[in-house]
Amino acid sequence: MTEARPLYKDLIKPVEERVEDLLKRMTLEEKVGQMCQYSVHPGAVKEFTHLLEKGLVGSFLNLLGAENVNEVQRIAVEKSRLGIPLLMGFDVIHGYKTIFPIPLAMASSWDPEVVKKACEVAAREASADGVKWTFAPMLDIARDPRWGRIAEGFGEDPYLASVMAWAAVKGFQGEELSPNPDKIAACAKHYVAYGGAEGGRDYNTVDISERTLREIYMQPFKSAVAAGVATVMSAFNDLCGIPASANEFTIRKVLKGEWGFQGFVVSDWNSVGELIVHGIARDGAEAARLGVTSGVDMDMVGDVYRRYLVELVRKGVVPEKLVDDAVRRILTVKFKLGLFENPYADPEKAKKVIKCREHLDAALEVARKCIVLVKNEGVLPFKKSLKRVAVIGPLADDKESMLGCWRGFGDPADSVTVLEGVRKKLGSEAKVLYAKGCDVKSQDRSGFEEAVRVAADADAVILVVGESWDMSGEAASRAYLDLPGVQEELVKTVYEAAAGRKIPVVMVVMSGRPLTIKRPAEYVPAILVAWHLGVRAGDAVADVVFGDFNPGGKLPVTWPKTVGQVPIYYNHKMTGRPPSSERFTSKYIDEDWRPLFPFGHGLSYTSFEYSDLNVKPEVVEPGSVVQISFTLTNTGGVEGDEVAQLYVRDVSASVTRPVKELKGFKRVTLKPGEKKRIVFNLPTELLAFYDREMNYFVEAGDYEVMIGSSSEDIRLKGRFTITRSEKVTDLRKVWFTETQVY
Ligand code: NOJ
Repeated sequence: MTEARPLYKDLIKPVEERVEDLLKRMTLEEKVGQMCQYSVHPGAVKEFTHLLEKGLVGSFLNLLGAENVNEVQRIAVEKSRLGIPLLMGFDVIHGYKTIFPIPLAMASSWDPEVVKKACEVAAREASADGVKWTFAPMLDIARDPRWGRIAEGFGEDPYLASVMAWAAVKGFQGEELSPNPDKIAACAKHYVAYGGAEGGRDYNTVDISERTLREIYMQPFKSAVAAGVATVMSAFNDLCGIPASANEFTIRKVLKGEWGFQGFVVSDWNSVGELIVHGIARDGAEAARLGVTSGVDMDMVGDVYRRYLVELVRKGVVPEKLVDDAVRRILTVKFKLGLFENPYADPEKAKKVIKCREHLDAALEVARKCIVLVKNEGVLPFKKSLKRVAVIGPLADDKESMLGCWRGFGDPADSVTVLEGVRKKLGSEAKVLYAKGCDVKSQDRSGFEEAVRVAADADAVILVVGESWDMSGEAASRAYLDLPGVQEELVKTVYEAAAGRKIPVVMVVMSGRPLTIKRPAEYVPAILVAWHLGVRAGDAVADVVFGDFNPGGKLPVTWPKTVGQVPIYYNHKMTGRPPSSERFTSKYIDEDWRPLFPFGHGLSYTSFEYSDLNVKPEVVEPGSVVQISFTLTNTGGVEGDEVAQLYVRDVSASVTRPVKELKGFKRVTLKPGEKKRIVFNLPTELLAFYDREMNYFVEAGDYEVMIGSSSEDIRLKGRFTITRSEKVTDLRKVWFTETQVY
């Protein structure tokens, strides 16, 4: 007798029941099949047909376009025995086709709504095209700008990154994972501590204390898990002797145990296979065993699960219950996404949604909020009535580099360069002159002469310099952080020509990381950090340069003076000998210990005053909330945004604590003369840390409160005392959701 309709296909039944029903029907081979992911392009689909028909593929990545996706999905759904749909994955990092600013730029907005919006748009476009899973957000804390992947994350601070992680997960997935056609599953990566690579060299060894691992590198992942992230990617790196893709402590104990993560873990690209290269697996079979036992549920591309796992289970080396657990997790995500009911993409919807007006407008709105004004000696904004404006530099008209690294399915032809943005802004009334000056990386100075001529002929100069799109992202570590090639010389030459004629100059820096621009920062009177801003980059820069948008971004990462200061970050320890003018203190003999631009720094065309700090109560029990409030006033002449920042320092504790830690922030828009009372509700649990015995404790004692416009520009100070120490038992909760309203 054949069954009319298997339970697992019944939409009305709870997901858990459907998963169990399906699991019962699966052969071991089919189960292992769900744990395998392959990269495929349209021309290579045929190679996978036999596996698809046998139900031996769980997921594909990199196959794009609604029709292509539907073609393979049809084989899985209609030709395989159980008809389990494929989960199609892709790196939708900062937009699918409508490309938004790189994540590091989005962190500069200090506005979680910005990140959420960008992820919502990306999800809508990707989903319409059949991509139901993105390998984002990238949550690696990076304290070393030599590491090219700093571009993909939210900067150096665990608190800021945790808030952005939450926003990104909600943006991609919605309130919770559901069959919503505009939503996709997210993937928190790269778990964990990948950003701690020695020397900033990609894929390199990471050796850090468990305390730093938990308090710094793990925090944003914990936030993503609390926000309901569907999947997590295990990283490439060695972590204190145990590679992240074979690490039972980080995956089974912390992620799936302490934090209760219910989704599935996918390896990074062949990171299970690479356990052999790391030297902890003799062969593919051992690599597969290590991957599965540590809790890696899906093997990306490596093919070691397909080749060895069935046999390992049959021989009793790997218990089948581990395979069942992995498959349960994978199927649950597929059911929750509604793939069994709606496995196909709708090409008509894709045409309507992708790069629609609304999405392109959102890209502009987001890009403007990401720009950081790091220096302005009364030069900006330029007047729109200027008649002759020179736009100079190798990035001024580079459509490709506007998109940055990991540009999804983005097309450089769609991007608006700074030259185009300025031309649009000034219209036919003004003459916009252009000179490239030099290439991004070459040593050729032959274009300098023309650049000088163009600058000398203008009323104002916009210099657009920095890194091309391919200089950051994966496998793009740098040993030097200066402006590449001869760009610094170009800046100097053009600046001198302009300054001699009293022509104002602004330098727009586009990059995927902090750059060491100490020398130009000494003389160029105005500097905008624009990062790589996406399809509307040029419009956004033009809006800011000509005052149609008042910049309000702040740096999410410290900008060093020289590469020798790296790693440099604001939340460092005090040391026994903090740097001072005394010789025997922690500093350099040949360079300042302070950064060029500190974490949280960013100026505006208006000014803000901070006053009337109130910390209430000043003596608190653990488990309660400290209310920190103050008045913020726009004391300048134009409307503007300020990001008010709350830092706290634990004055004396059982283990050494950072000199300050971000514990709250708010981006506020104020009209000239307008005042607002800003309130941070700080739960004491947000001050917890790992004590000597590695217990998570809020400790009794005094805490210093610092309110400021950057981590260095502290405007108000207060104090409170916690009466007694208390262990924090709920390790799943992220306490910032009570402070951070968005
Ligand atoms: C390797 C990268 O490390 C990871 O970030 C990415 O998601 C995968 N490749 C898939 O493209």
